[in-house]
Amino acid sequence: MKLSSKMDRCRLSPMRKFNPYADAAKARGIKIYHLNIGQPDVATPKAYYEALANYADPVLSYAPSSGINEYVDSVRRYFKRIGVELERSEVLPTMGGSEALQMTIATLLDDGDEIVIPEPFYPNYHTSITLAGATIRPIPTYVEEGYFYADKARVEACINENTRAILMTSPGNPTGNVLSREELQLMLSIAKEHNLFIICDEVYREFVYDSDDLVSALQYEEYKDNVIVIDSVSKRFSACGARVGVVISKNKEFMSQVMKWAQCRLATPSVDQLASAALYDLDPSYFDEVKKEYCLRRDTCIAGLQAIPGVKCRTPRGAFYVMAALPVEDADDFQMWLLNEFDDNGETILFACGEPFYGTPGRGKNEIRIAYTINAPDIKRAMEILKIALEKYNNR
Ligand SMILES: Cc1ncc(COP(=O)(O)O)c(C=O)c1O
Repeated sequence: MKLSSKMDRCRLSPMRKFNPYADAAKARGIKIYHLNIGQPDVATPKAYYEALANYADPVLSYAPSSGINEYVDSVRRYFKRIGVELERSEVLPTMGGSEALQMTIATLLDDGDEIVIPEPFYPNYHTSITLAGATIRPIPTYVEEGYFYADKARVEACINENTRAILMTSPGNPTGNVLSREELQLMLSIAKEHNLFIICDEVYREFVYDSDDLVSALQYEEYKDNVIVIDSVSKRFSACGARVGVVISKNKEFMSQVMKWAQCRLATPSVDQLASAALYDLDPSYFDEVKKEYCLRRDTCIAGLQAIPGVKCRTPRGAFYVMAALPVEDADDFQMWLLNEFDDNGETILFACGEPFYGTPGRGKNEIRIAYTINAPDIKRAMEILKIALEKYNNR
């Protein structure tokens, strides 16, 4: 029997592929500090659970494929607060940002097409793009340059006759890079000039640590036909298990084509949409405390990394990740050793290895991505373990 060659070209998620080894270590009594996955431990707002508790429909029926109006309207109210007027038909509920991305990519890309993405990038993009038969054309970025890419010549060097779209993440996973308004406008203008769609993954929108300016590509009316925004309750509202997101675009042709997938997958969970409406309606002050907490975690993480000889990283401005180059040849091998052969007082760490975050072969092999989604004392201890482990590993 033959399986899909497209799936064969996909990879397991670097955030999850070590889980069986981590489970085995836990079974041996080892405590693991999870730095591998963007699963916040910040409490989900009570409003979400109250809305769930209040759900009393006698039948848990399918939602419409176009979503439940209460949720769609809450997303519209949220965007209105930052100056963006949306019609209901421009907002399509999805099962998380993940499905919003899958639907968007399937709607835009054909076999042989290319999509331009700054690297390092969120590795799950690779899976959706490969399944669409398309390939990623990475814009290389470097820690020494602060992961800078918003430069006309650099971006245009990656555009050719097969290019259909640009995909960018700001605030960024895995670098924590945040585009300035000028940089965002430049990227949008390049997309428009080359008649390309531009997918703006904004699932970390509020998590910018040196500014309260809420930026969305939807605020730039001039580029409305090019822009597709990916949004989600997972990270910003600490509601990853809800599996609720949204794809938003003012491009009518795109929205009518993407509806075919929406109808094929039937619907987004009804109750979770209703409860997620309560999240989008939260007072914006909700983010003040959350941002303060992530800022503390970021600073703790960076201080820990900077105390380790040979580690190279940059202070992220947003999201809750940091990419770090380690003084090892192969981060995968180091991670396996950490889980199978090492512990410090019965404790070890799990991170995401860097290579799958790159599209350029050979890049990222000695890099890791850390998610600073655990509390600050645990991050401090995890960085101590990383320091001790690197010394031991390199002196084996
Ligand atoms: C950049 C980015 N986009 C999208 C997602 C998808 O998240 P979800 O499906 O939970 O909304 C993630 C999750 O880590 C992410 O980091």
